[in-house]
Amino acid sequence: MRLTEQEKRMRDGDEGDAVAAAMDLLIRYGDALGAERLVETRNVAGTMTQPSPAKAALVAEGGWERAFAVINLDSDRTLDIPPMRVPTCQLQHGFGADAEGLTAYPVQNIRMQDEAESYFTDRGVTVLATCTPYQVGNVPARDEHCAWMESSAVVYANSVLGARTNCEGAASTGAASLTGKIPYWGNHVPENRYATHHVSAEIDVADFREWGMLGYFVGEAVQEARPAVTGRLHAAGDSNLKHFGAATATSGGVEIYHLPGVTPEAPTLEAAFGGRSPVEPIRYGKRERAAVYETLNAQGTSTDVDFVLLGCPHASLEQVAEIAQLLDGRRLSTSAQLWVMLPRALAAESLRAGWTRTIMRAGGHVLTDSCPAMSRAAPPGTRVMATDSAKQAHYLPAILGIEAWFGTTAECVDAALTGRWRGELA
Ligand code: F3S
Repeated sequence: MRLTEQEKRMRDGDEGDAVAAAMDLLIRYGDALGAERLVETRNVAGTMTQPSPAKAALVAEGGWERAFAVINLDSDRTLDIPPMRVPTCQLQHGFGADAEGLTAYPVQNIRMQDEAESYFTDRGVTVLATCTPYQVGNVPARDEHCAWMESSAVVYANSVLGARTNCEGAASTGAASLTGKIPYWGNHVPENRYATHHVSAEIDVADFREWGMLGYFVGEAVQEARPAVTGRLHAAGDSNLKHFGAATATSGGVEIYHLPGVTPEAPTLEAAFGGRSPVEPIRYGKRERAAVYETLNAQGTSTDVDFVLLGCPHASLEQVAEIAQLLDGRRLSTSAQLWVMLPRALAAESLRAGWTRTIMRAGGHVLTDSCPAMSRAAPPGTRVMATDSAKQAHYLPAILGIEAWFGTTAECVDAALTGRWRGELA
């Protein structure tokens, strides 16, 4: 890879051993990818604070310095970690104190995460603790080069915001945070952002469930390619696009999509294809929709629901308001638990708006920082879950060995109130 003089100095240790290790990692990573150079970034979203047994062992050996050096810089030495060179945020991590007592999630993990937060905030990391950093203050500008992890956040940043990021890992984001550099390849390169596939929705797609199902279909159809989606699309707002993108990255590995007339790099379908003629569309109609619904509900057999999970990706204020409205003045079934996951910064707003009080009065919980898939924990004894998230319906049965139902937010709230799944595809 071609390096600038400044990058060579970083590699040679002029800015300390940790920066040299970070630059060494980026050079090896860029070479493996075939990147010709690095690009500057001032927006890193990674993970350092998430507890794990491997991390606990490293911390015991040599403190958080050692854990960061090994996991985030791929070094076998214990290094002094300087302050982050560029703005860096922590994405979702493990459950925090608000989940204590609700799950079998180990209390020592919560304590370890508190320690990690204190160590990394001292070094300039902003602990947003969410898979939706774009909801709570980290909103990159169009064409801004970023180094982000978390597939649902990456696809949102590329597609809805027009920022440029690949789906990075713990090590590349760690190295980017100390250098302000990331390899210039993949989604950073304009030509690699044009659509390759065209999906046409021939039925109305207008609410959260329908956007999630369309996303799941698109991901399965195009896998890691770049779809442009046209057709009878309505209400393409933040919450629906958040669900759509997360679903495309769940059944497939979509990192960027275009909605002509909606997303910033696709004023037209032709523009989405970089001026080339669009390819023959893949059709999404009634039959395809029914097949997606069946797949997402394939893990449900018992209609006795004991756990309802809402807020994947972490809920928006609009979603929390809807949930509170559906629960207002009502009481959950004694056999069901309800968790609503959202970013901690939005939890403060939910509290202020009175939605948290309404949800808690009904018997539900508003939780932050994590989710059952990330922390591998649900209420003890959970056998059957209901969710309005295509991503959780896809992953959680395998992660926790439970059954899952997928439906609308209202159907899920109904399941929490009655303890029964009564969802259906109208
Ligand atoms: Fe976020 Fe967990 Fe879903 S991290 S995207 S709520 S699987």
